[in-house]
Amino acid sequence: MQKKGLFITFEGTDGCGKTTQLNMAAEFLKSKGYEVVITREPGALETGKKIRQILLHSEEKLSDYCEMFLFLADRAQHVEALIKPAVEQGKIVLCDRHKDSHIAYQGYGREKNAQLIKELNQIAVNGIEPDLTLLYCVSPEVAMKRLSGAPDRIEAEGTKFQERVLEGYKKIAKENPERIKVINADNSVETVYNDTKNTIIELIEKKFEV
Ligand code: TMP
Repeated sequence: MQKKGLFITFEGTDGCGKTTQLNMAAEFLKSKGYEVVITREPGALETGKKIRQILLHSEEKLSDYCEMFLFLADRAQHVEALIKPAVEQGKIVLCDRHKDSHIAYQGYGREKNAQLIKELNQIAVNGIEPDLTLLYCVSPEVAMKRLSGAPDRIEAEGTKFQERVLEGYKKIAKENPERIKVINADNSVETVYNDTKNTIIELIEKKFEV
């Protein structure tokens, strides 16, 4: 598939500040005249919203494999119904979490076979690969301060789980140095935004040769 637009994913542990950065990046890109689509996993579409509700708030204890397949189901639908068409139409898709979340959380966090999870994700994403992934690495102490409100089912897993997820993300970044840019998210919002913006500008210059 010859892609016309761009697909950029925002990743990191809970409380890393990626959603704030995604929204700021979206405003910047719109101000430059780009057509931007903001989306997220899980829960961007009608089916996904129902899946998100189960994943984050189910009162029934979910098995690890039930959780794994629900995230994949959400992703498969999201890719076909939203991401692929938007990129084909030349839009810049900014996605809050995608397949790396799955490898980090369900693979490393839940201590399951990361290789199997990578393979399952290849089915769910059906050929689409992010042009760029911004990985916001935050220390658990800073992340805890940023999280507010009652924790959802996954946030409630606690610090040890988040530490495994963070280590997982770092391994994934090492395996994909071309695609994944690691950003120090312990810094101030402004500093993190500068890193975010500069990385996206670099990609646009490369891709669209402006
Ligand atoms: P959010 O609060 O950033 O929208 O993410 C929802 C939660 O779901 C967050 O704790 C990370 C988790 N998650 C996974 O465990 N696996 C996945 O594949 C995705 C997309 C999210």
